[in-house]
Amino acid sequence: MMVRLEDITKSFGPNQVLKGINLSVEQGEIVSIIGPSGGGKTTLLRTINWLEKPDSGSVTVDGETVAASSASGAGIHALRSKSSMVFQHYNLFRNKTALQNVTESLIVVKKLSPAEADNRGREILDRVGMLDKAGEYPARLSGGQQQRVGIARALAVDPRVMLFDEPTSALDPEWVSEVLDVITGIARQGMTMILVSHEMRFVNDVATRVLFLDDGRIIEDGSPANLFNHPREERTRQFLMKTKDFLSPAEAI
Ligand SMILES: Nc1ncnc2c1ncn2[C@@H]1O[C@H](COP(=O)(O)OP(=O)(O)OP(=O)(O)O)[C@@H](O)[C@H]1O
Ligand SMILES: [Mg+2]
Repeated sequence: MMVRLEDITKSFGPNQVLKGINLSVEQGEIVSIIGPSGGGKTTLLRTINWLEKPDSGSVTVDGETVAASSASGAGIHALRSKSSMVFQHYNLFRNKTALQNVTESLIVVKKLSPAEADNRGREILDRVGMLDKAGEYPARLSGGQQQRVGIARALAVDPRVMLFDEPTSALDPEWVSEVLDVITGIARQGMTMILVSHEMRFVNDVATRVLFLDDGRIIEDGSPANLFNHPREERTRQFLMKTKDFLSPAEAI
């Protein structure tokens, strides 16, 4: 088992946002989380690397377990080393080149020499199709290119699991497909992924499994074909009907 969440709850003040989440993800699965705004998708993703501390329950990634009742700094550090997250806004260092954005963690976290980091950084930029822009600063890159550097940066730490929180929702429409293509490529190479996305067509194409999260609970969990074409729950059906780029059944798988 690559990721296991057991009985995760989380409240912000009186607002209980996660109401008992149980989830197991096997190595190589591409799990997509969909659901209405405010349903807890981002909060759930952030608990996986303990950016959000749950009130109860435990998180295991690749054999490292942290429980809310007994979290230690060392345990949290070990847990965080197993995953990396790609955010909606690329959060690149503005004063570093594309390559330096990638090599930063190789030097600081992975302790590579500058020359080794440089080689490895170029390899990773190549994987996201950005090698030719290695020397550019973020201000001179398109939104899609910046997000691809963001993905390269997340890849650089050799994560066992990649977490994506709506990686294309801040992009102009013209840059969406290149970023989705890069994510698809990484998925096809066997990376385990948990991905929050509103791009239903992409979810349908790339995910091996879809979770519908609503009001802090996983309401439905199934293959894209089943969940999109034959939702069991009324709430899933309602949500899918409101999703504007939802596929007609004939188009889905
Ligand atoms: N740091 C915080 N402090 C207080 N409330 C928060 C905090 N973060 C999230 N919330 C609340 O938790 C609930 C779930 O938020 P979350 O961001 O997880 O939803 P989401 O499913 O990712 O929504 P969206 O699709 O809009 O991104 C919301 O009601 C939100 O207002
Ligand atoms: Mg969110």
